[in-house]
Amino acid sequence: MELVFTTWNEVEAYLDRSKGIIVPLGSIEQHGPNGLIGTDALCAEAIARGISGSDDVMLGPTIAFGVAPFNLRFPGTISMRSKTLMSIVTDYVQSLASQGFERFYFLNGHGGNVGPVRAACQDLQAERSLSASGSQRDMRFFFRSWWEYPTADALRRELYGEGEGMHATPSEIAITQALFPEHPKAAPAAAPPRLSIEYLRDHAGDNHADARQHRLHFPDGRVGSDSRLARPEHGRTLLDAAIEDGKRDYKTFLSQL
Ligand code: NI
Repeated sequence: MELVFTTWNEVEAYLDRSKGIIVPLGSIEQHGPNGLIGTDALCAEAIARGISGSDDVMLGPTIAFGVAPFNLRFPGTISMRSKTLMSIVTDYVQSLASQGFERFYFLNGHGGNVGPVRAACQDLQAERSLSASGSQRDMRFFFRSWWEYPTADALRRELYGEGEGMHATPSEIAITQALFPEHPKAAPAAAPPRLSIEYLRDHAGDNHADARQHRLHFPDGRVGSDSRLARPEHGRTLLDAAIEDGKRDYKTFLSQL
């Protein structure tokens, strides 16, 4: 069930069956020479749409903009400041919470969103906890990046090994190839330099330098990811795996006390 294709009466009726909603999070940023600018938003939305295939699971509108200031020297990138994304998340949640939604499952497609969205959720809980009367209603948040789903994660390791890298990954590009064959892109000629385990550890969550340095360090936009390896058939398998993992994950979240 997709919020933008429902009526208010249908949403009111839905709230009698469930208090949950899935919110896809993306980013509009460069994804190397053969990755679509919208990759992160497109992947998160497609997986979330697959999870929400029944009338008892609501899919909210995608927050397509993410925090990616390090990519601003690559044309086409649109980055939010952290505080902007935090404000969007807060207003999104509070709008729906005022009508009865209580469980918000963020399905993330971009590393740079992890810190700001978790911080926004902590602040929402802090506000409720600090208010003198306390809130009558329950409010829960869950945050999952799709590549953390166990079956999808095992698959991308098996398919690409070290070539998965960090940004413009073959797995995310394979997913967009499966979804949008009408937008084919030529693969780059060579693999990018491999990154050390230490680099991957220290820069997790898109902990990168400023845009000028970032483009200097990663001139074609790929951060250790060998996107030449992406294939649409991999993308279909990854998508199916992530959707199955996501269905279980969402159900568990709703059933938690
Ligand atoms: Ni991405």
